[in-house]
Amino acid sequence: MSVIRSTVTGCGSFLPEKILTNGDLAKMVDTSDEWIVQRTGIEKRHIAGEGQFTSDLALEAARRALESAGREASDIDTIILATATPDNTFPATSVTVQAKLGITHGFAFDVQAVCSGFVYAMTTADAYIRSGLSKRCLVIGAETFSRILDWEDRTTCVLFGDGAGAVVLERTECAGTNDDRGILTSHLRSDGRHKKKLYVDGGPSTTQTVGHLRMEGREVFKHAVGMITDVIEDAYEATGLTSDDLDWFIPHQANKRIIDASARKLGIAPEKVVTTVQSHGNTSAASIPLALDSAVRDGRVKKNDLLMLEAMGGGFTWGSVLLRW
Ligand code: ACO
Repeated sequence: MSVIRSTVTGCGSFLPEKILTNGDLAKMVDTSDEWIVQRTGIEKRHIAGEGQFTSDLALEAARRALESAGREASDIDTIILATATPDNTFPATSVTVQAKLGITHGFAFDVQAVCSGFVYAMTTADAYIRSGLSKRCLVIGAETFSRILDWEDRTTCVLFGDGAGAVVLERTECAGTNDDRGILTSHLRSDGRHKKKLYVDGGPSTTQTVGHLRMEGREVFKHAVGMITDVIEDAYEATGLTSDDLDWFIPHQANKRIIDASARKLGIAPEKVVTTVQSHGNTSAASIPLALDSAVRDGRVKKNDLLMLEAMGGGFTWGSVLLRW
């Protein structure tokens, strides 16, 4: 039987030049390299320069993804950009990227699911491709979280960074088995009752300001591992595959302790886990495609490898995407 699947044909990422180390942060707030590394695994993060916007980071990642896919911008009919830090309240940052890429056909829109944004965007693009609405999508995760941090709040400002990652997702006809290349299954969840545990205390309709990120870190931590493992088990149930079948686990990079605990609970061997949190911090919707791109470019991820992507973030939102490279 022939089925339509969405297959990744290229990926790319971009990090702004400026690096902020834990030592730099210790000069700004009452913290230390030791505390940050021990609680989170983070050693440094990248920060966007003045006048460098989310669309600029997204554009560079998109160009690199197109190059690696061997595609021109004009080949793309759909852009889905996941971000919680758009250039403007509107228009969507994706249409700015569309214009910067010189694309005037097709359509572009943003997805807002905070740290789960990339998983939501991949799932949305997959649904558009399988329905026939799109043939070739650019899926981007891009953030400038440095712009919504309270730089006097040590409980949050040490955790996040800026960056972008992108993939090209294309319609392919497949046999309809777990050996197919492309997205095999994806699972999304949200539960708005947890809004106050991780949110931004501003917005156009409430305060007419952008606001700052607020978080009850311990509460987020408490829910994270259970939610992550639930949607991964949903993927296993849908496909009959297990942790043993995975070649790579590419989680949202929020905190090394959350990543390690999730992998341990799922029985995923530590050597299969891709971690970039130590050098990127938490880049929200950008963290999965940044980690993915680093593992592809250094040769770890190879054609036909089975990858599990997962994320959990503000909302709460959470989800998983199981795909064969
Ligand atoms: N430096 C030094 N001390 C600090 C810092 C800091 N940067 N931040 C907090 N502390 C202090 C606290 O004030 C507290 O002090 P007290 O005991 O005197 O009150 C102590 O350290 C312990 O604080 P906890 O919050 O209990 O520390 P915890 O071990 O829970 O670690 C952390 C905090 C790292 C935030 C952890 O809870 C965590 O990772 N939570 C998940 C956060 C996360 O992943 N968020 C992203 C979700 S994705 C998204 O959508 C954005």
